Amino acid sequence: MASVLQFSDVSVVRDGNTILDSVDWNVDSKERWVILGPNGAGKTTLLQLAAAQIHPSHGEAVVLDSTLGAVDVFDLRPRIGFASTALARRIPANETVLDVVLTASYSVTGRWNEEYEEIDTRRARRVLGEWKLSHLEDRRFGNLSDGEQKRVQIARAVMTDPEVLLLDEPAASLDLGAREELLQLLGGYASAPDAPAIVMVTHHVEEIPPGFSHALLLSQGEVHDSGPIEEVVTAGNLSDVFGVDLKVERTDNRFTARAA
Ligand SMILES: Nc1ncnc2c1ncn2[C@@H]1O[C@H](COP(=O)(O)OP(=O)(O)OP(=O)(O)O)[C@@H](O)[C@H]1O
Ligand SMILES: [Mg+2]
Repeated sequence: MASVLQFSDVSVVRDGNTILDSVDWNVDSKERWVILGPNGAGKTTLLQLAAAQIHPSHGEAVVLDSTLGAVDVFDLRPRIGFASTALARRIPANETVLDVVLTASYSVTGRWNEEYEEIDTRRARRVLGEWKLSHLEDRRFGNLSDGEQKRVQIARAVMTDPEVLLLDEPAASLDLGAREELLQLLGGYASAPDAPAIVMVTHHVEEIPPGFSHALLLSQGEVHDSGPIEEVVTAGNLSDVFGVDLKVERTDNRFTARAA
């Protein structure tokens, strides 16, 4: 198994505040990780490191065998699929869905004068089909519902066949039907033999797709626990991190949590 992320003693300091504190974390190519933790715990910051969008203030972060700070991130970023709200905000509202996905081949948001090969267009259409978005191909991104926009962002993130897929709250703001459909698509994608390593941030254990193998629990910038999902997503751990006495159940490969 190839190592995709190797973080040793990684800290991120902003305005004198330590928002990630001595994080040790390894992700291998066959692993599917979920990151859980309260608001402000540092989940998005950790994902931004993994996406080579920021560098650590201390420690060493190796992404796809490249040490952040010692490589050209513009060579690295096309190998990483990343979907987040911050990235979605950079997509022009009048961009068509097809172009939102297509422009991933150039790591840009907003079609300008790039020449796209027929093969790129064919691939974009195939990806839209796989994520059940073909009917929206000509629609403007800004006019889509939140759920549709989320799915388009994931299609964009997988367009370049990334070696690691990073998703920041992909199911946030989805209705129940849209959430379940997305989890089914994600679970199916994750279980394909050639799927990349996946790391997904979420607030709710109900949003963990079936087949996810590992979990990392963050609390105030520190790793509370990490490892195989069944050892980490437990009532004791979640109660500690969220400060509420919780009951956690796992049925049919899905989790639920509620106050004990
Ligand atoms: N550039 C920055 N400058 C100063 N503080 C920052 C910066 N980026 C993040 N922070 C702070 O670091 C902390 C962690 O932020 P982060 O966005 O990683 O949390 P999160 O776990 O993703 O939270 P949420 O669940 O609300 O999305 C927060 O308190 C945030 O305000
Ligand atoms: Mg966040």
